[in-house]
Amino acid sequence: MPAADRLWPRGLRARLSIGIAVVVALALGAAFVGIYRGTGSQLRGQIDRDLRVEVGAFAAQGLPGGSPNPRQVASAASSYIAGRPFGPAARLLIARVPGGAVVTNQPELLGIRGQGRSDQDHEPGSIQATENAQVVRLRQAPPGYSEIGLHDAGTLRLLTQAVTRGGHALATVSVGEPLAPVTRAQRGVARTFALWGSLTLVAAALGGYLLAARTTRPLRRLASTAALIDAGDLSRRVAGVARSGEVRVVAEAFDHMLERLQEAFARQQEFVSDASHELRTPLTVIAGQIEVLARQHDVSDEDVERVAGFIRVEIARMERLVDDLLLLASIDEQRAVSRETIEIAPFTEELWQSIRELGERRFELPTVPQGTLSADSDRLTQALRNIARNAVEHTQPGGLVRLSVSAFGDTLTFAVDDDGPGIPSEERARVFDRFHRSIGSPVPDGHGAGLGLAIAQAIIRAHGGRIWADAASSGGARVAFALDGFRPKA
Ligand SMILES: Nc1ncnc2c1ncn2[C@@H]1O[C@H](COP(=O)(O)OP(=O)(O)O)[C@@H](O)[C@H]1O
Ligand SMILES: [Mg+2]
Repeated sequence: MPAADRLWPRGLRARLSIGIAVVVALALGAAFVGIYRGTGSQLRGQIDRDLRVEVGAFAAQGLPGGSPNPRQVASAASSYIAGRPFGPAARLLIARVPGGAVVTNQPELLGIRGQGRSDQDHEPGSIQATENAQVVRLRQAPPGYSEIGLHDAGTLRLLTQAVTRGGHALATVSVGEPLAPVTRAQRGVARTFALWGSLTLVAAALGGYLLAARTTRPLRRLASTAALIDAGDLSRRVAGVARSGEVRVVAEAFDHMLERLQEAFARQQEFVSDASHELRTPLTVIAGQIEVLARQHDVSDEDVERVAGFIRVEIARMERLVDDLLLLASIDEQRAVSRETIEIAPFTEELWQSIRELGERRFELPTVPQGTLSADSDRLTQALRNIARNAVEHTQPGGLVRLSVSAFGDTLTFAVDDDGPGIPSEERARVFDRFHRSIGSPVPDGHGAGLGLAIAQAIIRAHGGRIWADAASSGGARVAFALDGFRPKA
């Protein structure tokens, strides 16, 4: 067994709960990424919009009108900025004036020492600046949005814009806002997801396991019932394992199959016991005759001859029975019949000629349709012989036995009528059952074991045809069958 196979659990319950947990984990992961990013970009968008408004306000209100000199610009910016000290709720404001002056509400951040909010009073070169990267980057922020990492306040989002008037650069205005709230909000999202996500995951795995256990319970019951049936108890049924759903459908189909199996089994058993019974009768007769002979002290030739006659008759009966049984078995076995093209007129002529030898009857064969039939001629002869022999057996000498053949489309119907006592309507379906004989039926030479019509039916069904018993217009019985595959002669 490969290693991966051993790692992967085989039970449906474990598989389902792992599968559900994986799906939930993937969904949670995707939701986390979406919400984490969404929160970030939404807050950043808001910050960017605020920065734009702030820069606009600064340019409009913080800088003087007309064409002021840098000193005037710096002082106007100073007084604007004075009203907006840097704090948790306010933003970082910077105005860079041509000539090098920098005005800001956060001098420490830009490395400006002293109490003043601007270094306009100092010479540009004398600015006491802490020359570090942070200051340089703040002072040289490129136009547009940029981000600068601060030592202690995290990342700063900065919007820088040059303000010109009449073609002259007045100042470069920067407005900054820390991104710390964004990071805080995102961390909050991450914490919430870590907590609730893992709880959800555990709940999903557990729920999946319970659900799978519930779903597979009928399957397990189905399996255990199937095991009982396998052990030989065909009377069990499994539909009870599930009230509804797919398992119920499977269980019902299973029950249906069992029903058919049980019936087939019962039929088979009945057939075997009937066959054994039929075979035992002649054996009993033979044994009895021999017993009688053995008890006699002086056995005459006539006695021997008489017993031998009895035994011959019984053996002949057994032979016929065994032949019939073998024939039935071979028809049952062979799924397909070996079809050939039969010329109907000569076929029926010849057949009827041999039937005439069965007894002294008025054998009639009205005009037969011209054409061919695709069928197994030996089997067809057998079926017709069995039916015709019954007609002969159930009529008196001189009685009527008529075979009529008629075509309708590609269907050919053979009907054997007689003027005997007929078959009572309640018997008509059962006469085709194996070993069925009507009670009190006159069986003149003790010929039949009740297999003649069963064989005929098996043959006709193997051809895909239909066989039935009816009342004949001549007053007796009619046994008829219909086969497809007739081709009339053009
Ligand atoms: N032509 C007929 N007239 C009256 N009864 C018939 C006729 N053909 C068949 N039957 C009835 O159908 C039963 C079954 O026939 P079959 O299968 O040939 O068995 P068997 O001839 O060995 O009795 C017969 O026992 C008989 O009662
Ligand atoms: Mg018969």
